[in-house]
Amino acid sequence: MAKNHGGITHAPGALPIIGHLLPLLRDPLHFLSTLPAYGDLVQIRLGPQTAVVVCRPELVQQVLLNDRIYDKGGPIIERVGNALGDGIASCPHSAHRRQRRSLQPAFSRTCLREYATIMTGRIDALTTGWSDGQTVEVGAQMYGLASDTIARTLFTAEAAAPAVEAVTASLPDIFRGIYQQAVLPPLLRRLPLPPNVRYERARNRAWAAVSKTISSYRQDGGPHGDVLSMLLKTQDDAGEPLSDAEIHAQIMTLLVAGIDTTAVALTWAVHLLCQYPDVQERLRIETTEVLGTRTATWEDLPRLDLARRVITETLRLYPPGWIFTRTTSAEARLADAVIPPDTTLVYSPYLIHRDPRFNARPDVFDPDRWLPEREHTRGTLIPFGGGARKCLGDNYAMTLATLALSTIVAQWRLSHGGLPIPAVEPRMTLAPHKVQVRVESLESEPLADSIRQ
Ligand code: HEM
Repeated sequence: MAKNHGGITHAPGALPIIGHLLPLLRDPLHFLSTLPAYGDLVQIRLGPQTAVVVCRPELVQQVLLNDRIYDKGGPIIERVGNALGDGIASCPHSAHRRQRRSLQPAFSRTCLREYATIMTGRIDALTTGWSDGQTVEVGAQMYGLASDTIARTLFTAEAAAPAVEAVTASLPDIFRGIYQQAVLPPLLRRLPLPPNVRYERARNRAWAAVSKTISSYRQDGGPHGDVLSMLLKTQDDAGEPLSDAEIHAQIMTLLVAGIDTTAVALTWAVHLLCQYPDVQERLRIETTEVLGTRTATWEDLPRLDLARRVITETLRLYPPGWIFTRTTSAEARLADAVIPPDTTLVYSPYLIHRDPRFNARPDVFDPDRWLPEREHTRGTLIPFGGGARKCLGDNYAMTLATLALSTIVAQWRLSHGGLPIPAVEPRMTLAPHKVQVRVESLESEPLADSIRQ
Protein backbone atom coordinates (compact mmCIF):
# COMPACT_ATOMS: atom_id res chain seq x y z
CA MET A 1 0.00 0.00 0.00
CA ALA A 2 1.41 3.43 -0.97
CA LYS A 3 1.57 5.91 1.93
CA ASN A 4 1.24 9.69 1.52
CA HIS A 5 3.54 11.92 3.63
CA GLY A 6 2.82 15.62 3.10
CA GLY A 7 2.37 15.38 -0.67
CA ILE A 8 5.05 12.72 -1.20
CA THR A 9 3.86 9.15 -1.65
CA HIS A 10 6.05 6.23 -0.68
CA ALA A 11 6.20 3.64 -3.46
CA PRO A 12 5.00 0.27 -2.23
CA GLY A 13 7.08 -2.93 -2.39
CA ALA A 14 10.27 -1.74 -0.66
CA LEU A 15 12.18 -4.68 0.83
CA PRO A 16 14.08 -4.41 4.11
CA ILE A 17 17.63 -3.09 3.62
CA ILE A 18 17.64 -3.01 -0.19
CA GLY A 19 14.38 -1.11 -0.71
CA HIS A 20 13.46 -0.97 -4.43
CA LEU A 21 16.91 -1.92 -5.69
CA LEU A 22 15.79 -5.21 -7.27
CA PRO A 23 13.05 -3.88 -9.58
CA LEU A 24 15.23 -0.89 -10.39
CA LEU A 25 18.11 -3.09 -11.48
CA ARG A 26 15.97 -5.79 -13.12
CA ASP A 27 13.61 -3.67 -15.17
CA PRO A 28 14.04 0.03 -14.37
CA LEU A 29 11.77 1.30 -17.16
CA HIS A 30 8.87 -0.83 -16.04
CA PHE A 31 9.47 0.08 -12.42
CA LEU A 32 9.51 3.80 -13.25
CA SER A 33 6.35 3.54 -15.31
CA THR A 34 4.43 2.08 -12.33
CA LEU A 35 5.16 5.11 -10.15
CA PRO A 36 2.75 7.80 -11.49
CA ALA A 37 -0.14 5.62 -10.32
CA TYR A 38 0.88 6.47 -6.73
CA GLY A 39 1.15 10.24 -7.08
CA ASP A 40 3.03 13.18 -8.58
CA LEU A 41 5.97 12.91 -6.19
CA VAL A 42 6.87 9.33 -5.31
CA GLN A 43 9.60 8.33 -2.92
CA ILE A 44 11.68 5.25 -3.72
CA ARG A 45 14.43 3.65 -1.64
CA LEU A 46 17.79 2.32 -2.85
CA GLY A 47 19.43 0.63 0.12
CA PRO A 48 19.76 3.33 2.77
CA GLN A 49 19.26 6.18 0.25
CA THR A 50 15.92 7.62 -0.75
CA ALA A 51 14.96 9.63 -3.83
CA VAL A 52 11.76 11.38 -4.89
CA VAL A 53 10.67 10.69 -8.47
CA VAL A 54 8.88 13.66 -10.07
CA CYS A 55 6.04 12.30 -12.20
CA ARG A 56 4.34 15.37 -13.74
CA PRO A 57 5.72 17.53 -16.58
CA GLU A 58 4.92 20.87 -14.93
CA LEU A 59 6.67 19.81 -11.72
CA VAL A 60 9.69 18.60 -13.71
CA GLN A 61 9.75 22.04 -15.36
CA GLN A 62 9.75 23.73 -11.95
CA VAL A 63 12.72 21.59 -10.95
CA LEU A 64 14.60 22.28 -14.17
CA LEU A 65 13.93 26.01 -14.13
CA ASN A 66 15.10 26.54 -10.56
CA ASP A 67 18.64 25.23 -10.82
CA ARG A 68 19.81 27.09 -7.71
CA ILE A 69 17.51 25.15 -5.38
CA TYR A 70 17.39 21.95 -7.44
CA ASP A 71 21.12 21.70 -7.96
CA LYS A 72 23.16 18.98 -9.61
CA GLY A 73 23.73 16.09 -7.21
CA GLY A 74 23.02 12.43 -6.54
CA PRO A 75 25.03 9.25 -7.17
CA ILE A 76 25.37 9.45 -10.96
CA ILE A 77 26.51 13.08 -10.86
CA GLU A 78 29.10 12.22 -8.19
CA ARG A 79 30.49 9.47 -10.41
CA VAL A 80 30.46 11.71 -13.48
CA GLY A 81 32.43 14.33 -11.52
CA ASN A 82 34.88 11.67 -10.42
CA ALA A 83 35.36 10.33 -13.94
CA LEU A 84 35.59 13.60 -15.84
CA GLY A 85 36.64 16.31 -13.41
CA ASP A 86 34.10 18.96 -12.36
CA GLY A 87 33.01 19.90 -15.88
CA ILE A 88 29.90 21.74 -16.96
CA ALA A 89 27.53 18.77 -16.70
CA SER A 90 28.31 17.89 -13.09
CA CYS A 91 29.49 21.15 -11.48
CA PRO A 92 27.24 22.82 -8.89
CA HIS A 93 25.11 25.88 -9.63
CA SER A 94 27.76 28.16 -8.05
CA ALA A 95 30.28 27.23 -10.79
CA HIS A 96 27.87 26.67 -13.65
CA ARG A 97 27.25 30.14 -15.15
CA ARG A 98 30.97 30.75 -15.62
CA GLN A 99 31.47 27.35 -17.25
CA ARG A 100 28.45 27.68 -19.50
CA ARG A 101 29.56 31.14 -20.66
CA SER A 102 32.99 29.80 -21.59
CA LEU A 103 31.60 26.89 -23.61
CA GLN A 104 28.46 28.39 -25.18
CA PRO A 105 30.28 30.24 -28.03
CA ALA A 106 31.68 26.93 -29.30
CA PHE A 107 28.08 25.81 -29.95
CA SER A 108 26.86 28.94 -31.74
CA ARG A 109 25.10 28.68 -35.09
CA THR A 110 28.18 29.96 -36.91
CA CYS A 111 30.31 27.22 -35.35
CA LEU A 112 27.65 24.56 -36.01
CA ARG A 113 27.76 25.42 -39.67
CA GLU A 114 31.52 24.73 -39.66
CA TYR A 115 31.04 21.48 -37.75
CA ALA A 116 28.45 20.38 -40.31
CA THR A 117 31.24 20.13 -42.88
CA ILE A 118 33.04 17.64 -40.61
CA MET A 119 29.73 15.78 -40.15
CA THR A 120 29.10 15.51 -43.88
CA GLY A 121 32.61 14.14 -44.45
CA ARG A 122 32.25 11.49 -41.74
CA ILE A 123 28.74 10.47 -42.90
CA ASP A 124 30.07 10.10 -46.42
CA ALA A 125 32.91 7.86 -45.21
CA LEU A 126 30.44 5.73 -43.25
CA THR A 127 27.82 5.12 -45.92
CA THR A 128 30.23 4.60 -48.81
CA GLY A 129 31.82 1.84 -46.71
CA TRP A 130 28.64 -0.28 -46.84
CA SER A 131 27.94 -2.81 -49.59
CA ASP A 132 24.67 -3.98 -51.12
CA GLY A 133 23.00 -6.77 -49.07
CA GLN A 134 25.38 -6.36 -46.13
CA THR A 135 24.19 -6.78 -42.55
CA VAL A 136 25.47 -3.92 -40.42
CA GLU A 137 25.65 -3.73 -36.65
CA VAL A 138 24.02 -0.32 -36.42
CA GLY A 139 25.04 0.49 -32.83
CA ALA A 140 28.74 0.05 -33.60
CA GLN A 141 28.46 2.02 -36.85
CA MET A 142 26.65 4.93 -35.22
CA TYR A 143 29.05 4.92 -32.30
CA GLY A 144 31.91 5.14 -34.81
CA LEU A 145 30.20 8.02 -36.62
CA ALA A 146 29.37 9.99 -33.46
CA SER A 147 32.72 9.45 -31.77
CA ASP A 148 34.75 10.28 -34.84
CA THR A 149 32.68 13.37 -35.65
CA ILE A 150 32.58 14.77 -32.12
CA ALA A 151 36.27 14.04 -31.44
CA ARG A 152 37.20 15.84 -34.68
CA THR A 153 34.99 18.78 -33.72
CA LEU A 154 36.85 19.10 -30.45
CA PHE A 155 40.32 18.67 -31.88
CA THR A 156 41.06 18.79 -35.58
CA ALA A 157 44.86 19.12 -35.54
CA GLU A 158 46.83 16.22 -37.00
CA ALA A 159 48.76 16.00 -33.72
CA ALA A 160 45.50 15.10 -31.97
CA ALA A 161 44.86 11.97 -34.04
CA PRO A 162 46.31 9.55 -31.41
CA ALA A 163 44.16 11.22 -28.76
CA VAL A 164 41.03 10.85 -30.89
CA GLU A 165 41.81 7.15 -31.23
CA ALA A 166 42.65 6.61 -27.55
CA VAL A 167 39.58 8.47 -26.35
CA THR A 168 37.08 6.81 -28.67
CA ALA A 169 38.48 3.37 -27.80
CA SER A 170 38.29 4.07 -24.05
CA LEU A 171 34.85 5.65 -23.87
CA PRO A 172 32.68 2.49 -23.90
CA ASP A 173 34.44 1.23 -20.74
CA ILE A 174 34.13 4.68 -19.18
CA PHE A 175 30.36 4.82 -19.87
CA ARG A 176 29.85 1.35 -18.42
CA GLY A 177 32.09 2.17 -15.46
CA ILE A 178 30.29 5.40 -14.51
CA TYR A 179 26.93 3.60 -14.41
CA GLN A 180 28.24 0.57 -12.52
CA GLN A 181 30.07 2.75 -10.03
CA ALA A 182 26.92 4.78 -9.43
CA VAL A 183 24.84 1.74 -8.55
CA LEU A 184 27.56 -0.21 -6.65
CA PRO A 185 27.89 0.33 -2.89
CA PRO A 186 31.04 2.43 -2.11
CA LEU A 187 32.99 -0.55 -0.71
CA LEU A 188 32.60 -2.60 -3.89
CA ARG A 189 33.70 0.39 -6.00
CA ARG A 190 37.16 0.28 -4.50
CA LEU A 191 37.81 -3.48 -4.87
CA PRO A 192 40.01 -4.55 -7.80
CA LEU A 193 37.10 -6.31 -9.53
CA PRO A 194 37.54 -6.73 -13.33
CA PRO A 195 34.90 -4.06 -14.22
CA ASN A 196 36.53 -1.58 -11.79
CA VAL A 197 39.99 -2.28 -13.22
CA ARG A 198 38.72 -1.90 -16.80
CA TYR A 199 37.05 1.39 -15.91
CA GLU A 200 40.15 2.81 -14.16
CA ARG A 201 42.39 1.80 -17.05
CA ALA A 202 40.08 3.34 -19.68
CA ARG A 203 39.63 6.52 -17.68
CA ASN A 204 43.40 6.93 -17.20
CA ARG A 205 44.07 6.31 -20.89
CA ALA A 206 41.53 8.88 -22.08
CA TRP A 207 42.59 11.32 -19.36
CA ALA A 208 46.27 11.08 -20.42
CA ALA A 209 45.43 11.41 -24.14
CA VAL A 210 43.41 14.60 -23.56
CA SER A 211 46.16 16.06 -21.31
CA LYS A 212 48.77 15.40 -23.96
CA THR A 213 46.65 17.08 -26.63
CA ILE A 214 46.12 20.19 -24.47
CA SER A 215 49.90 20.44 -23.94
CA SER A 216 50.65 20.04 -27.64
CA TYR A 217 48.07 22.73 -28.55
CA ARG A 218 49.61 25.08 -25.98
CA GLN A 219 53.04 24.45 -27.48
CA ASP A 220 52.16 24.87 -31.17
CA GLY A 221 50.10 27.99 -30.45
CA GLY A 222 47.20 27.09 -32.82
CA PRO A 223 44.46 28.06 -33.43
CA HIS A 224 43.04 25.03 -35.23
CA GLY A 225 39.42 26.19 -35.61
CA ASP A 226 38.12 23.62 -33.15
CA VAL A 227 36.56 23.61 -29.67
CA LEU A 228 39.86 23.04 -27.89
CA SER A 229 41.47 26.06 -29.60
CA MET A 230 38.48 28.15 -28.55
CA LEU A 231 38.73 27.04 -24.93
CA LEU A 232 42.45 27.85 -24.87
CA LYS A 233 41.63 31.42 -25.96
CA THR A 234 38.67 31.84 -23.59
CA GLN A 235 38.89 34.26 -20.68
CA ASP A 236 36.50 34.26 -17.76
CA ASP A 237 34.63 37.33 -16.47
CA ALA A 238 37.72 38.41 -14.54
CA GLY A 239 39.83 38.23 -17.71
CA GLU A 240 41.61 35.04 -16.53
CA PRO A 241 42.27 32.18 -18.94
CA LEU A 242 40.84 28.76 -18.13
CA SER A 243 43.23 26.39 -16.37
CA ASP A 244 44.36 23.12 -17.98
CA ALA A 245 42.28 21.21 -15.41
CA GLU A 246 39.15 23.16 -16.39
CA ILE A 247 39.75 22.66 -20.10
CA HIS A 248 40.43 18.99 -19.51
CA ALA A 249 37.16 18.56 -17.60
CA GLN A 250 35.17 20.30 -20.36
CA ILE A 251 36.68 18.24 -23.16
CA MET A 252 36.08 14.97 -21.30
CA THR A 253 32.53 16.10 -20.49
CA LEU A 254 31.72 16.95 -24.10
CA LEU A 255 33.03 13.58 -25.27
CA VAL A 256 31.06 11.65 -22.70
CA ALA A 257 27.87 13.75 -22.92
CA GLY A 258 27.82 13.87 -26.70
CA ILE A 259 28.96 10.60 -28.20
CA ASP A 260 26.91 7.81 -26.70
CA THR A 261 23.71 9.86 -26.58
CA THR A 262 23.88 10.80 -30.27
CA ALA A 263 24.92 7.30 -31.34
CA VAL A 264 22.07 5.73 -29.38
CA ALA A 265 19.52 8.17 -30.86
CA LEU A 266 20.63 7.36 -34.40
CA THR A 267 20.61 3.63 -33.70
CA TRP A 268 17.02 3.76 -32.44
CA ALA A 269 16.01 5.89 -35.41
CA VAL A 270 17.33 3.28 -37.85
CA HIS A 271 15.61 0.52 -35.89
CA LEU A 272 12.29 2.39 -35.92
CA LEU A 273 12.51 2.99 -39.66
CA CYS A 274 12.89 -0.78 -40.12
CA GLN A 275 9.89 -1.39 -37.87
CA TYR A 276 7.81 1.22 -39.70
CA PRO A 277 8.63 0.76 -43.43
CA ASP A 278 5.84 3.18 -44.39
CA VAL A 279 7.61 5.99 -42.54
CA GLN A 280 10.88 4.91 -44.12
CA GLU A 281 9.34 5.20 -47.59
CA ARG A 282 7.88 8.64 -46.83
CA LEU A 283 11.26 9.75 -45.59
CA ARG A 284 12.84 8.40 -48.76
CA ILE A 285 10.54 10.58 -50.85
CA GLU A 286 11.69 13.64 -48.93
CA THR A 287 15.38 12.79 -48.96
CA THR A 288 15.42 11.74 -52.62
CA GLU A 289 13.78 15.02 -53.56
CA VAL A 290 16.25 17.07 -51.56
CA LEU A 291 19.45 15.06 -51.95
CA GLY A 292 19.12 12.65 -54.85
CA THR A 293 21.78 10.20 -53.70
CA ARG A 294 24.35 12.68 -52.39
CA THR A 295 25.33 13.24 -48.78
CA ALA A 296 23.30 15.82 -46.86
CA THR A 297 24.87 19.16 -45.94
CA TRP A 298 24.05 22.10 -43.66
CA GLU A 299 22.24 23.93 -46.50
CA ASP A 300 19.80 21.00 -46.89
CA LEU A 301 18.60 21.13 -43.29
CA PRO A 302 15.60 23.48 -43.76
CA ARG A 303 14.13 21.04 -46.31
CA LEU A 304 14.67 17.88 -44.26
CA ASP A 305 11.48 18.32 -42.28
CA LEU A 306 10.31 14.76 -41.88
CA ALA A 307 13.84 13.61 -41.02
CA ARG A 308 13.83 16.06 -38.13
CA ARG A 309 10.43 14.88 -36.95
CA VAL A 310 11.59 11.25 -37.15
CA ILE A 311 14.54 12.10 -34.91
CA THR A 312 12.33 14.05 -32.49
CA GLU A 313 9.86 11.17 -32.25
CA THR A 314 12.74 8.73 -31.74
CA LEU A 315 14.00 10.89 -28.88
CA ARG A 316 10.51 10.86 -27.38
CA LEU A 317 10.18 7.07 -27.51
CA TYR A 318 13.76 6.29 -26.55
CA PRO A 319 15.35 9.31 -24.86
CA PRO A 320 19.04 8.35 -24.63
CA GLY A 321 19.34 10.12 -21.28
CA TRP A 322 16.49 8.42 -19.46
CA ILE A 323 17.14 9.32 -15.83
CA PHE A 324 18.70 12.34 -14.11
CA THR A 325 19.02 13.53 -10.54
CA ARG A 326 19.03 16.79 -8.62
CA THR A 327 19.69 17.56 -4.96
CA THR A 328 17.88 20.31 -3.07
CA SER A 329 20.29 22.96 -1.80
CA ALA A 330 17.64 24.37 0.56
CA GLU A 331 14.08 23.59 1.65
CA ALA A 332 11.80 23.70 -1.38
CA ARG A 333 8.08 23.61 -2.07
CA LEU A 334 6.92 21.48 -4.97
CA ALA A 335 3.17 21.04 -5.54
CA ASP A 336 1.83 20.48 -1.99
CA ALA A 337 5.03 19.02 -0.67
CA VAL A 338 7.75 20.58 1.43
CA ILE A 339 11.04 19.06 0.33
CA PRO A 340 13.84 19.19 2.89
CA PRO A 341 17.39 20.27 1.93
CA ASP A 342 19.67 17.50 0.59
CA THR A 343 16.79 15.51 -0.88
CA THR A 344 17.60 13.64 -4.08
CA LEU A 345 15.02 14.19 -6.81
CA VAL A 346 14.79 12.09 -9.95
CA TYR A 347 13.37 13.15 -13.30
CA SER A 348 13.04 10.77 -16.18
CA PRO A 349 12.37 11.92 -19.76
CA TYR A 350 11.30 8.33 -20.50
CA LEU A 351 8.65 8.39 -17.77
CA ILE A 352 7.21 11.73 -18.93
CA HIS A 353 7.32 10.86 -22.64
CA ARG A 354 5.52 7.54 -22.17
CA ASP A 355 2.80 8.72 -19.79
CA PRO A 356 -0.55 8.39 -21.64
CA ARG A 357 -1.93 11.36 -19.68
CA PHE A 358 0.46 13.68 -21.56
CA ASN A 359 1.17 11.97 -24.88
CA ALA A 360 -1.68 10.21 -26.72
CA ARG A 361 -0.83 6.63 -27.81
CA PRO A 362 2.57 7.01 -26.17
CA ASP A 363 4.05 3.71 -27.41
CA VAL A 364 3.29 4.39 -31.09
CA PHE A 365 6.00 5.82 -33.36
CA ASP A 366 4.26 8.75 -35.03
CA PRO A 367 6.61 11.47 -36.33
CA ASP A 368 3.60 13.50 -37.46
CA ARG A 369 2.69 14.27 -33.89
CA TRP A 370 5.44 16.93 -34.23
CA LEU A 371 3.81 18.71 -37.17
CA PRO A 372 3.61 22.41 -36.25
CA GLU A 373 -0.18 22.49 -36.59
CA ARG A 374 -0.61 19.77 -33.93
CA GLU A 375 -1.09 20.84 -30.34
CA HIS A 376 1.72 20.21 -27.88
CA THR A 377 1.63 20.55 -24.14
CA ARG A 378 4.63 22.39 -22.74
CA GLY A 379 7.13 20.24 -20.89
CA THR A 380 6.01 16.90 -22.27
CA LEU A 381 9.01 16.54 -24.59
CA ILE A 382 12.25 16.80 -22.62
CA PRO A 383 14.95 14.62 -24.25
CA PHE A 384 17.45 17.45 -23.77
CA GLY A 385 16.28 18.44 -20.27
CA GLY A 386 15.51 22.13 -19.74
CA GLY A 387 16.35 25.37 -17.95
CA ALA A 388 19.91 26.55 -17.40
CA ARG A 389 21.26 22.98 -17.47
CA LYS A 390 19.60 22.13 -20.78
CA CYS A 391 21.81 20.16 -23.14
CA LEU A 392 24.51 22.34 -24.65
CA GLY A 393 24.82 20.06 -27.67
CA ASP A 394 21.10 19.75 -28.57
CA ASN A 395 21.47 21.53 -31.93
CA TYR A 396 24.72 19.73 -32.64
CA ALA A 397 23.05 16.35 -32.01
CA MET A 398 19.95 17.24 -34.05
CA THR A 399 22.13 18.42 -36.94
CA LEU A 400 24.32 15.32 -37.00
CA ALA A 401 21.37 12.95 -36.61
CA THR A 402 19.28 14.69 -39.31
CA LEU A 403 22.14 14.78 -41.82
CA ALA A 404 23.13 11.16 -41.14
CA LEU A 405 19.63 9.67 -41.21
CA SER A 406 18.64 11.55 -44.38
CA THR A 407 21.75 10.43 -46.20
CA ILE A 408 21.36 6.81 -45.12
CA VAL A 409 17.71 6.65 -46.20
CA ALA A 410 18.40 8.38 -49.53
CA GLN A 411 21.05 5.79 -50.39
CA TRP A 412 20.03 2.58 -48.62
CA ARG A 413 16.88 0.55 -47.96
CA LEU A 414 16.93 -0.66 -44.36
CA SER A 415 15.31 -3.81 -42.99
CA HIS A 416 15.61 -6.12 -40.04
CA GLY A 417 15.35 -8.89 -42.65
CA GLY A 418 14.33 -11.60 -40.16
CA LEU A 419 17.04 -10.54 -37.72
CA PRO A 420 16.03 -10.33 -34.06
CA ILE A 421 14.38 -7.15 -32.79
CA PRO A 422 16.65 -5.55 -30.18
CA ALA A 423 15.83 -5.40 -26.50
CA VAL A 424 16.13 -2.12 -24.59
CA GLU A 425 19.18 -1.98 -22.34
CA PRO A 426 19.07 0.91 -19.89
CA ARG A 427 22.60 1.81 -18.84
CA MET A 428 23.98 5.34 -18.65
CA THR A 429 22.00 5.78 -21.84
CA LEU A 430 18.88 3.96 -23.01
CA ALA A 431 20.65 1.80 -25.57
CA PRO A 432 19.20 -0.96 -27.71
CA HIS A 433 20.98 -4.28 -27.47
CA LYS A 434 22.58 -5.00 -30.83
CA VAL A 435 20.56 -3.65 -33.77
CA GLN A 436 21.41 -5.62 -36.88
CA VAL A 437 20.10 -4.24 -40.14
CA ARG A 438 20.32 -5.38 -43.74
CA VAL A 439 21.18 -2.55 -46.10
CA GLU A 440 20.27 -2.61 -49.81
CA SER A 441 21.76 -0.06 -52.13
CA LEU A 442 19.25 2.22 -53.90
CA GLU A 443 21.81 3.59 -56.31
CA SER A 444 20.85 1.43 -59.27
CA GLU A 445 17.17 1.20 -58.33
CA PRO A 446 14.77 3.30 -60.42
CA LEU A 447 12.61 5.56 -58.29
CA ALA A 448 9.45 3.60 -57.45
CA ASP A 449 6.13 5.03 -58.62
CA SER A 450 4.91 5.20 -55.05
CA ILE A 451 7.88 7.42 -54.22
CA ARG A 452 7.42 9.69 -57.25
CA GLN A 453 3.87 10.54 -56.37
C1 HEM B 1 20.69 13.01 -28.86
C2 HEM B 1 21.76 13.43 -28.21
C3 HEM B 1 21.76 14.05 -26.85
C4 HEM B 1 20.84 13.94 -25.84
C5 HEM B 1 19.54 13.15 -25.83
C6 HEM B 1 21.32 14.76 -24.74
C7 HEM B 1 20.64 14.93 -23.55
C8 HEM B 1 21.06 15.77 -22.53
C9 HEM B 1 20.29 16.05 -21.34
C10 HEM B 1 18.93 15.46 -20.99
C11 HEM B 1 21.01 16.93 -20.60
C12 HEM B 1 20.58 17.55 -19.25
C13 HEM B 1 20.95 16.65 -18.12
C14 HEM B 1 20.36 17.07 -16.79
O1 HEM B 1 19.28 17.68 -16.74
O2 HEM B 1 20.96 16.74 -15.75
C15 HEM B 1 22.24 17.20 -21.30
C16 HEM B 1 23.23 18.04 -20.87
C17 HEM B 1 24.39 18.27 -21.56
N1 HEM B 1 24.71 17.82 -22.81
FE1 HEM B 1 23.59 16.65 -24.00
N2 HEM B 1 22.51 15.31 -25.10
C18 HEM B 1 22.81 14.92 -26.38
C19 HEM B 1 23.92 15.29 -27.12
C20 HEM B 1 24.91 16.13 -26.70
C21 HEM B 1 26.04 16.55 -27.50
C22 HEM B 1 26.27 16.17 -28.95
C23 HEM B 1 26.83 17.32 -26.70
C24 HEM B 1 28.11 18.02 -27.02
C25 HEM B 1 28.97 17.65 -27.93
C26 HEM B 1 26.16 17.40 -25.40
C27 HEM B 1 26.64 18.12 -24.33
C28 HEM B 1 25.94 18.31 -23.16
C29 HEM B 1 26.45 19.13 -22.06
C30 HEM B 1 27.78 19.87 -22.03
C31 HEM B 1 25.47 19.11 -21.06
C32 HEM B 1 25.51 19.82 -19.72
C33 HEM B 1 24.86 21.19 -19.87
C34 HEM B 1 24.88 22.01 -18.61
O3 HEM B 1 24.77 21.48 -17.48
O4 HEM B 1 24.98 23.25 -18.75
N3 HEM B 1 25.01 16.67 -25.45
N4 HEM B 1 22.24 16.49 -22.50
